Amino acid sequence: TDDDAAGLLSLLRAVPDHPAPGITFWDITPLLGDAGALARATEALAVAAQALPGGRVDLVAGVEARGFVLGAPLALALGAGFVPLRKAGKLPWRTVRQDYSLEYGKASIEAHEDAVPAGARVLVIDDVLATGGTAAAACALVNRLGGELAGVVFLLELLSLQGRAALAPALAGAPVTSVLQTP
Ligand code: PRP
Ligand code: MG
Repeated sequence: TDDDAAGLLSLLRAVPDHPAPGITFWDITPLLGDAGALARATEALAVAAQALPGGRVDLVAGVEARGFVLGAPLALALGAGFVPLRKAGKLPWRTVRQDYSLEYGKASIEAHEDAVPAGARVLVIDDVLATGGTAAAACALVNRLGGELAGVVFLLELLSLQGRAALAPALAGAPVTSVLQTP
């Protein structure tokens, strides 16, 4: 409901000028630290994911770091496995790497090359959709790993940055949803 959304939104902290001047950082730690809010947010993500067209999810792929925190409980709620999409250089086995641009600079994420069985349906999750660069890279990685993109889900979508438009080319028609939105 709108009340639930307002309650969760009130636990997100907008930090101006972090990590660089002009960037507003949306800090989810107050929500994570509230047991009831964490449960409600996880439930809302699961409901949003289950409402996506297209059916089953075999794997949830979470983007380091904050996509890990939300992605593991979402995977449990959906009865799916979890795949970490890590910042470059962290994974021990053979990896596939995807470069992308952020509001503040460049970055790369990687996955193990054998993380996704052929044809597995993979749901990408991250905490925030800002410009869309991170999520687009995650979708591209899923594709390159041989997965079928089931969709993308966010806790928070920053509507003013129009990340959905930037993300669209990486989706190949897969659906996107977000639990909370800020103008
Ligand atoms: C933040 C956020 C998303 C991404 C969204 O992550 O957690 O992953 O930025 O931005 P975009 O839509 O413009 O790509 P960040 O790179 O700050 O790293 P973190 O999750 O490890 O804190
Ligand atoms: Mg992140």
